[in-house]
Amino acid sequence: MVLRLAWLALATAVSSVAGLTAIQQLNLGGHFAQESAVSLRDPRGLEIWPLFPTGEVPNERFGLEENHVAPNMKDLVGMFCAPGETTGNWYYNVTIPGLLPMLVDKSNPLFKDAAVIVVPGGGHSFLAWTKEGVEIGEWLNSIGISAFVLKYEVPETTVNFTRSVLNLQRAMSLVREKAPEFGLNASRIGVIGFSAGGGVAVRGNSLLDKLYDKVDEADSQSHLPDFQLLVYGNSGQGGVPISPMPTFIAHTSTDICCPVKQALDYYQLMSKLAPTELHIFPDGGHGFGSCRSYPEKWYEVCTWPDRAQMFLEQQVLHIPSQKSKR
Ligand SMILES: *[C@@H]1O[C@H](CO)[C@@H](O)[C@H](O)[C@H]1NC(C)=O
Ligand SMILES: *[C@@H]1O[C@H](CO)[C@@H](O)[C@H](O)[C@H]1NC(C)=O
Ligand SMILES: *[C@@H]1O[C@H](CO)[C@@H](O)[C@H](O)[C@H]1NC(C)=O
Repeated sequence: MVLRLAWLALATAVSSVAGLTAIQQLNLGGHFAQESAVSLRDPRGLEIWPLFPTGEVPNERFGLEENHVAPNMKDLVGMFCAPGETTGNWYYNVTIPGLLPMLVDKSNPLFKDAAVIVVPGGGHSFLAWTKEGVEIGEWLNSIGISAFVLKYEVPETTVNFTRSVLNLQRAMSLVREKAPEFGLNASRIGVIGFSAGGGVAVRGNSLLDKLYDKVDEADSQSHLPDFQLLVYGNSGQGGVPISPMPTFIAHTSTDICCPVKQALDYYQLMSKLAPTELHIFPDGGHGFGSCRSYPEKWYEVCTWPDRAQMFLEQQVLHIPSQKSKR
């Protein structure tokens, strides 16, 4: 109960400083640390909400040492899937899952009442935290949408998605519960998944039940997203969604890590169930993220955020296209 209150206090503190950029929040770390028994930080010092109270991570694993490091060019997954990746940080050995809030303040003229949980990739062995997490949150904030970057448990040794999916289920439930406090519409909470993170998203939305025992009232909230975006997502892992939602898919023909056939097959499945769009680019490979690191090389594919913005405005926010400010 004490920890539960700590989480609420933390959330309130974050809400009151919403509107600051992620970098500005850096300076508030000391303040948050006093509010919570659990102090988690991302590599830039930003406060991360724990997903579960201390000692209540389901089947908590021990003996792994969490590490955040510059991309390791010798990592086989990284080398194979995103050889151009050299910027930012990766997370290894995540055993205490969390959520990095990146909120847009209600007073911001760009404010929209939707939020997206960002699920980075990394082949279930690490998290591409900067490129497929924080930078994506910054992009969403720039178009008025709040973001929550999911720090899910890796490595997933069995790759049966138990840990990563239950982390996403819990994150979705927490964000829904807190939605009114942040001025968010609890029916406009979606997910964006990159690579393995896309696999977590599509797997998660095909499960009716939560994969963990109820921890607190937040778990009365649905864990199913209202919309989803998959960017070079491993959608081959997906089943039929429990509640079909508008879906945006961006992929390239030259993806050797998650073959484009996965995107085509998932489009075939989803388009029968809900508004679904599929963007296939001829070049760009895998792992381009928001494209900040690869702007010249893969120019066309780097329009995906513009297309995703239009999807969000039309399928989620229901802003008539002629009125959307672009
Ligand atoms: C992950 O934890 C294991 C076990 O402690 C350790 O051997 C390994 O070096 C860690 N990985 C990284 C990248 O820190
Ligand atoms: C998945 O992994 C979890 C945790 O290791 C294990 O308890 C569960 O039985 C596994 N499920 C399947 C279907 O293999
Ligand atoms: C919340 O979002 C849902 C789904 O888009 C919409 O039907 C509803 O009107 C919204 N509620 C408010 C108060 O805007």
